[in-house]
Amino acid sequence: MAYKFRSLISNKIIQALEHASQGRKGVNSSTLIPCIQVEQRSNILPEFRVSLKRLQQRGILTSSAVSRENLLKCASSLVEKFDTDMTIPGVYVIADKADIRINFKVNSDQLVADVIDITTLKPDSFWRSSAYIDHLPYERVVADYSSPNIAKPFHVGHLRSTIIGNFICNLHAAFGHQVTRINYLGDWGTQFGILKYGFDAHNMTEKDLEEDAMKKLYEVYVWASQKAEEDPSIHIQAQEIFSKMEQGDEDTLKIWDLFRRVSIKDLSRTYGCLNVMFDEFHGESMYPASKCQEVVDMMEAKGILHTLDDGRKIFEMNPKQRVTVVKSDGSSIYLSRDIAGAIDRQNKYEFTRSYYVVDSSQTDHFLALFSIVHQLGFDWAVNMRHIKFGRIQGMSTRKGTAVFLRDLIDEAQAVMKKKQEETDTTRASLHLSGHETAERVAVSSILIGDMKQRRQRDYDFSWDKALQSRGDTGVKMQYVHCRLMNLQKNCGVEYTQKANTRYLTEMAAINLVREIARFDEVLVETYNELEPCILVNYLFKLCGVINAAIKQLQVKSSTLELAKARLALFVSARVTLAAGMRILGVEPLNDM
Ligand code: ARG
Repeated sequence: MAYKFRSLISNKIIQALEHASQGRKGVNSSTLIPCIQVEQRSNILPEFRVSLKRLQQRGILTSSAVSRENLLKCASSLVEKFDTDMTIPGVYVIADKADIRINFKVNSDQLVADVIDITTLKPDSFWRSSAYIDHLPYERVVADYSSPNIAKPFHVGHLRSTIIGNFICNLHAAFGHQVTRINYLGDWGTQFGILKYGFDAHNMTEKDLEEDAMKKLYEVYVWASQKAEEDPSIHIQAQEIFSKMEQGDEDTLKIWDLFRRVSIKDLSRTYGCLNVMFDEFHGESMYPASKCQEVVDMMEAKGILHTLDDGRKIFEMNPKQRVTVVKSDGSSIYLSRDIAGAIDRQNKYEFTRSYYVVDSSQTDHFLALFSIVHQLGFDWAVNMRHIKFGRIQGMSTRKGTAVFLRDLIDEAQAVMKKKQEETDTTRASLHLSGHETAERVAVSSILIGDMKQRRQRDYDFSWDKALQSRGDTGVKMQYVHCRLMNLQKNCGVEYTQKANTRYLTEMAAINLVREIARFDEVLVETYNELEPCILVNYLFKLCGVINAAIKQLQVKSSTLELAKARLALFVSARVTLAAGMRILGVEPLNDM
């Protein structure tokens, strides 16, 4: 929203750089604008700032300005050559130990009016009024996320992948890119042999899988793999069953199809609770041995596949690291299927970006995948990226450590209820109206609890922390959103877009505008790093500033014009908070 200002400042900086002969040739506003940030100090009128270190890192300054002394000189000559006017009336240098910055004072009335106008006019897309975001190159994105294995448990890794992958897709969609959301099921492999063995041994039928399919299949799988461990002949049987599947045996594929269908049905319910959706359910089964053979042929033609004495075919990442691409019995494996899948996705979607949202333990797998695709001569290999994340400890339910999402949500609700009973007399207690609200607050707290950390960090999950209404939690975000909703409903003033925002002069109001104005800047940063925590932490900060403003800026008891202006500000804050929450995959509540 503050784009207009950043763009003006950027043009003037470019001119000043030229006059002072300090800038590199070809510097344009698209490289400069991301370096111009809203000043965050809360005791000053709106200002923007640019860090000279950052300009230097981005190659915007000429290389002579390397030392601190030079940077200081450069800053003063820039300030000297900078053209101030009504919109940007002041400019000055701030030098501290860490950095040298130039600050730009901006016309407060203009900024306040602009920010409120733009956000409230297009609550679902206001950030795209920032020409910077709109001018980013158009991308066709495919994202592979969640991707659980049928028969094996949906573990916390899959939960994180679901949450982070969904966020990444929402974010790209918010930037106007084309996004295809793929759930790549682990629906192929010897484990199906094991599963079928267990299913048959229990005389089970389709009827038995009508409810809780994933859980039941998992139980059968656990039982059968234990048996297979005791009795190796079962393992051989399982391998034979899988071989039949690879050869296209109809009877075996029928039962496999049943497992797949009921699992998708069951999973879809879970995804519904999480507010997560997919465009396509793909699976490893799309790339059976016959499809992988094409990959093998290509690799052999390029001379990058070596056959070992035992019949295995391997790819050499480097002299020390070899990876198997084909097993000695000729069957396909996870890696060969992923190679075939990557090529297939490029053919189908002509992606300009392909993301795999999978925990860090698979780093080597993806390095091998990308390296093979590259060596096969596909230039687009550089557009594939492994979005890694760390492990969570402690996210178990009373029922055990395998995470079934339903259990998790139930657990969150149970803990919340307990908290509610304990704190019923305090102000911050949760008064959740109805089951659905409780479920949505529970889901919000799981989502935010997960995304508030840097994604690659391992972390300890605590129900207690995730569900606090006062700390930095999803509960708090929902709570603040509801507070703004209530304020709008009960303040006695009709909201109008034409409020006179010149009435907003208090520091609390300016601070809130400043925070709202940072939204597009924060989105770009989140986007560049694909780090949800950047957006989450910004929203927490926004919530804090909103709470402070609500306390200080009465709407109800103010004169009509002032009340209208304040209400417009709060509406602007609410749509900004809601937009951020939605990108994170959290549907804002109006009442709780
Ligand atoms: N099913 C795999 C697992 O649970 C994750 C699949 C990720 N996607 C991929 N294309 N390899 O470990």
